[in-house]
Amino acid sequence: MSSTLALTEPFETLADYAASGGLDGLRRARAMTSEDLIALVGEAGVRGRGGAGFPAARKWASVLAETSDHDDSFVVVNAAEGEPGTFKDRALIRANPYAVVEGALIAAHAIGARRVVVATKAIYLEQLERIRAAVLELHADGWLAGLEVEVVEGPDHYLLGEETALLEVIEGEDPLPRQIPPYLYGLYTTGPQLGWSAGIDDSPGGPATPSSNPVVVNNAETLAHVALVCRHGADWYRAQGTSESPGPTIVTITGDVRRAAVAEVPLGRPLGELIDELAGGARPGRSIKAVLSGVANPVLSAAGLTAPVSYEGLGAAGSGLGSAGFIVYDDSRNMVDVAYQVSRFLHVESCGQCNSCKLGTLDVTTLLEGLVRGEPAKVDVVGHLRRALAGVTQSARCYLPTQEQRLVASLLDGFPEDLAERLAGIPGDLDVPLPKIIDIRDGVAELAAGPPYKHPDWTLRDTPVALTRR
Ligand SMILES: Cc1cc2nc3c(=O)[nH]c(=O)nc-3n(C[C@H](O)[C@H](O)[C@H](O)COP(=O)(O)O)c2cc1C
Ligand code: SF4
Repeated sequence: MSSTLALTEPFETLADYAASGGLDGLRRARAMTSEDLIALVGEAGVRGRGGAGFPAARKWASVLAETSDHDDSFVVVNAAEGEPGTFKDRALIRANPYAVVEGALIAAHAIGARRVVVATKAIYLEQLERIRAAVLELHADGWLAGLEVEVVEGPDHYLLGEETALLEVIEGEDPLPRQIPPYLYGLYTTGPQLGWSAGIDDSPGGPATPSSNPVVVNNAETLAHVALVCRHGADWYRAQGTSESPGPTIVTITGDVRRAAVAEVPLGRPLGELIDELAGGARPGRSIKAVLSGVANPVLSAAGLTAPVSYEGLGAAGSGLGSAGFIVYDDSRNMVDVAYQVSRFLHVESCGQCNSCKLGTLDVTTLLEGLVRGEPAKVDVVGHLRRALAGVTQSARCYLPTQEQRLVASLLDGFPEDLAERLAGIPGDLDVPLPKIIDIRDGVAELAAGPPYKHPDWTLRDTPVALTRR
């Protein structure tokens, strides 16, 4: 594969990008019908890189089908990147914002949208600068004629990246997930939403037919892949990866490794091989005990290091690809301590719209904290943990508590000797890192220090959050 997402050879200007073949995909896409364009992306098999691996073409077709004459459809670029252990979207935007915006313009053509929103965090200053400059250059070159492209800066909350919460933020609200998915209930609608901040325009002269304004929300990397597919074709894209997981992907590797890494690789290569090659393997004198694929999938034990990094490969190993952010833990770690960090993170980031989620994650976190502190184990603490985990997803609006349920349970079940140690009252490490990555440069990851960087009511702690380098 000759051309890639250009992580290692950043484009400084739109002219550089265009000189390397950039924008050819957009030119080609605009000469196609929606149906042909969606079919092309479907043939290539582009799957969402935001975590769920949902086929992009299927999402676009649903939005197209749901859009009626009185609707304005939108494309939203999800550049919120809040998953622990993940830095890929920021690395991509830093090097090549053009491919991301090009992909969004292609998606807009596919669904007939006139409005595109790129949404990221206000703290991602470098990326914001790159996106804004790219949009201005595209505008100056005439690529945005008839289109409105907006850049939205959101707050530093994990839920910002949840697609319905992202729509709330674009509308000026807090990142609180909705009940209805973006393809059915989009942006600036005039129809009723069941639940939070319903927006009904019942003013005299208001629209007779409520609009639902369906939205395509795609991850930033997904859209860059679309640009590559439109430039080079479906066969070119499928020449990398596997039949179920075509194309390249950007992996992030941090944790107990010799160096932090963010790199583009073809899907399908064994996880252990990537950790060795890109991150130098385990720290001196240590061996890899477990790997988290972000905090949305069950843990992989050392046996999972042979699994191919693909949707089906990591799925068969009992985990998932997620957003390809791999957090490595070595044999110096106890997985109950890791479970505590995960549960604490998810509890703090839970928005509290659903009691079972906010309070259930608190219950699990409190029990795990007691174990890590080496407090005498409460009667049937394991049974209590299991019951709390089983109930945490009840009436949940979003996937966050399912993440808690799957990942925490896997950490407790997969490492019985670690659990036995904590049940015996041997205290652990309350500060095992769950990397919230600020930056990765030259093999060094800059991490926000924690815990606790934020209180469970989302207020920030008073003292400035120190940074650590690993
Ligand atoms: C709690 C939570 C956090 C999420 N954070 C992100 C994120 O930071 N970036 C992202 O692209 N998707 C994130 N997602 C997934 C999005 O909801 C959505 O599936 C994705 O943007 C769809 O794009 P894709 O189909 O291109 O992957 C998150 C989901 C959940 C439940
Ligand atoms: S499940 Fe949790 S994070 Fe999701 S909306 Fe409900 S309370 Fe908020």
